Amino acid sequence: MSESGSKAARVIEIEVLRYRPGTDAEPVWQSFRVPFLDDTSVLEGLQAIKDDLDGSLSFRWSCRMAICGSCGMMIDGVPRLACHTFLREFFPGKVRVAPLDHMPIERDLVVSAEDFVHKLEGITPYLVPREARTVEQGEYLQTPRQLEQFRQFAGCINCMLCYAACPQYGLDPEFIGPGLMALIHRYNADSRDGARAERMELINAEQGVWSCTAVGYCSVVCPKHVDPANAVNQNKVNGALDWVKRRAGLKGGGT
Ligand code: SF4
Ligand code: FES
Repeated sequence: MSESGSKAARVIEIEVLRYRPGTDAEPVWQSFRVPFLDDTSVLEGLQAIKDDLDGSLSFRWSCRMAICGSCGMMIDGVPRLACHTFLREFFPGKVRVAPLDHMPIERDLVVSAEDFVHKLEGITPYLVPREARTVEQGEYLQTPRQLEQFRQFAGCINCMLCYAACPQYGLDPEFIGPGLMALIHRYNADSRDGARAERMELINAEQGVWSCTAVGYCSVVCPKHVDPANAVNQNKVNGALDWVKRRAGLKGGGT
């Protein structure tokens, strides 16, 4: 636990939703009392539980600095990164920590990312060069203005908080979901990319952008300010423009 911040350690109650396959018939709340300082994160609180109180507690983490996207969980009912949320926010009350909504629990706070990863593999999540260039021809150049078309959407860390926040994904797990629509827009809006047409098929598919009910909570919880709801809207505009162009007998447009 960090030693900086407030010198006086206080004690907070952390309630954790536990689920151990093979042992528990259903998830149950378990309470722990954990000392904390002003700069103790929820993740550090969970690590203190694991180190000192119950070594069987399971949760994911890696970077501890809101970069890797692996410590997403429901913290007092809100999808948040545990490493980027501080216990002081909840004191003198208790804080409840549960696995991300809308995803199967593998154990305790660990959820299955299988559906997200499977869909991620299907969106061509990389640049497909619009035109081949040899090494001698040099880099694929881009103006600052072209960069601004997608820069915001390139900040996604695949944390899946927006999926836990999305009521449509909760109702229909086939829905492609906010994070991946932001990622699709990230590549489609890149002037160097040439795979827009195949990604637009996913956008316009049954479980694509038109299934979004425009709640917007995905953008509220996104820790990287990617604004997936904005990406969804831009995808809707692009999908509608493609439809108009097809009706007019024109080729589906580029970015
Ligand atoms: S869009 Fe935001 S909330 Fe969704 S996966 Fe990416 S970083 Fe996480
Ligand atoms: S541990 Fe990496 S985002 Fe929290």
